[in-house]
Amino acid sequence: MRFDVITLFPDMVRAPFRYSLMARAIDAGLFGLQVHDLRQFAADRHRVCDDYPFGGGEGMVLKVDPIARAIAAAAQRGVRKQVLLTSPGGRRLDQAFARELAQLDQVLIVCGHYEGVDERVRQHIVDGEVSIGDYVLTGGELAACVIIDVVARLLPGVVGSRASVDNESFENGLLDHPQYTRPRVFDGLAVPEVLLSGDHGRIARWRRQEALRRTWRDRPDLLENAPLSEEDRRFLGALDVRRDSGFEAGSSDEHES
Ligand code: ADE
Repeated sequence: MRFDVITLFPDMVRAPFRYSLMARAIDAGLFGLQVHDLRQFAADRHRVCDDYPFGGGEGMVLKVDPIARAIAAAAQRGVRKQVLLTSPGGRRLDQAFARELAQLDQVLIVCGHYEGVDERVRQHIVDGEVSIGDYVLTGGELAACVIIDVVARLLPGVVGSRASVDNESFENGLLDHPQYTRPRVFDGLAVPEVLLSGDHGRIARWRRQEALRRTWRDRPDLLENAPLSEEDRRFLGALDVRRDSGFEAGSSDEHES
């Protein structure tokens, strides 16, 4: 899979992918990242990519023609691709959207900037708009990096094992279970006994229950769509009863069986 980003600030987009897992994945050819400097596609000597808004008003507007030329130059033919504009008004990025994008051969991201983008880009040039959350960034570069990171880590081989992607927060519709590593006791804070028991059945049950408990406490909205077993529902029902009787407080390693 290949990502192409069209931006006025190419280094802002390249920098995060020079580190860690993403840099290794790119080096290994697991995905490609091409960052295109929008100024290279300007028509004039001064490489101007924005202009005053027709009708007057504050701020500058990104021009349609350099964006259209940049996309034409970057788009591969005959592949499954999408051209997306970053925008706070776009479709909200979530794990399901990321999985859809991970099926494509090429994702092109146009970084919005300044006060706006010529409306013809939205209407005629891109396939859709994507937002990374309900807040306003100064530009689309950080959003593009988030989108690429979230999608790329779903690609085969990018994250160590398939299991570490499948088991984590959101992938199974729940928040992740708690993790601990050495030391067993830090400053009087002990690791839950069950994790040291060596009993894999008990550990798996405890992890499932803690994931349910966390989700129930911090993101109950996720429970509406999470695939839940009868046992899960009984556990959640018991949490509701405990809360309603003023009993439930935070996480623990009770409620195992
Ligand atoms: N540009 C400005 N704010 C944004 C957001 N929340 N998501 C995507 N692009 C943006």
